[in-house]
Amino acid sequence: MTIPYLVLVPNFDLSTRNTLALKAQSRWGVLLDDADQVPALFELAKDRRLPLRVLGGGSNVVLSSDFDGITAIMATRGRRVISEDEDHVVLEAAAGDTWHDFVVWTVEQGFGGIENLAGIPGTVGAAPVQNIGAYGVEVADVFESLLAFDTLENSLRTFTARDCAFAYRDSVFKHEPGRYVVMSLRLRLPRPWQPNLRFAGLSELSELPEIAPSTVMDRVLYLRGSKLPDWRVTPNAGSFFQNPIVTLEEAAPVLAAFPTAPNFPQADGRTKLSAGWLIEQSGLKGFRMGRAGISERHALVVINLGEADAGDIASLAEHVKATVKARFGIVLHEEPVFL
Ligand code: EPU
Repeated sequence: MTIPYLVLVPNFDLSTRNTLALKAQSRWGVLLDDADQVPALFELAKDRRLPLRVLGGGSNVVLSSDFDGITAIMATRGRRVISEDEDHVVLEAAAGDTWHDFVVWTVEQGFGGIENLAGIPGTVGAAPVQNIGAYGVEVADVFESLLAFDTLENSLRTFTARDCAFAYRDSVFKHEPGRYVVMSLRLRLPRPWQPNLRFAGLSELSELPEIAPSTVMDRVLYLRGSKLPDWRVTPNAGSFFQNPIVTLEEAAPVLAAFPTAPNFPQADGRTKLSAGWLIEQSGLKGFRMGRAGISERHALVVINLGEADAGDIASLAEHVKATVKARFGIVLHEEPVFL
């Protein structure tokens, strides 16, 4: 067996490797461009007694300024068609592939099913971890399986959808942080393609005489561009808070005061409120605190005003949570992971 080649870079700068552009450094850094490097790296970290964490696109993390260990960046690439028949096509992508590039590739191949998820920052490997979703579609809807390295058992494991326990912005991987490293993802896209146009902003497309996955993708990209700040221009981590799913009793004070407040009844009898709406109604849209702020374009997005660190982001997030709790009695939960 050949031992995979690992190059550990000292004093590894992470400020360009997180979409919030937080000032952050790791004692060591390594790019993983071959799946075989993953077990070898965990072995090495164990031998040297160094903490090890794995990042994808850095679009859902709040990085602490200094990490006294190894930060590995998942950088494997590759996508392929696994099988095709009349009813489905099964596709596979490597964990380090950029999610949006993978979506564009599927659309270019004529495979519909994930076009509503275009433009989401991050990697393929991160997509199932928080079950990314937008415009009425979640990864869970088209999930076939994934391959992950189990760092506890030191072995590869295949996960079915049931194993992943997907829910709104949730999966088993969030409950055992650090245990699994996603290596590749398989999606099963149904045939013939049925556009999902239920979401506001997409329904107008049903009037068109002809529609292709690329039509939907282009509209999604337009909608995202018109609402959400681009992290390349204004560093951010997308939605910073999850939309709270609450009981009807918890929602009652909000809905009594604001009968038209956005709310989406759930199958389990609870309802999903809009965190962006709650934050805006709390007077915090565009609010600034130190080197961090709430976007003026979308109240769910925390932005780095320049030179912010994790402390600035955490203080702002606490202020937002306390203000919304005091105003509406609703508890918000952060979406990104503090590392
Ligand atoms: N709203 C406000 N003020 C704001 C922003 C939104 O009142 O500043 C209201 C809107 O008017 C609307 C409601 O909130 O009635 C929902 O807003 P939007 O359609 O923008 O969607 P969202 O619930 O805020 C979710 C996802 C997004 C995804 C969009 C579109 C979460 C936490 N966020 O946002 O995902 O793009 O739906 O499907 O579920 C992400 O996770 O990073 C992300 C951007």
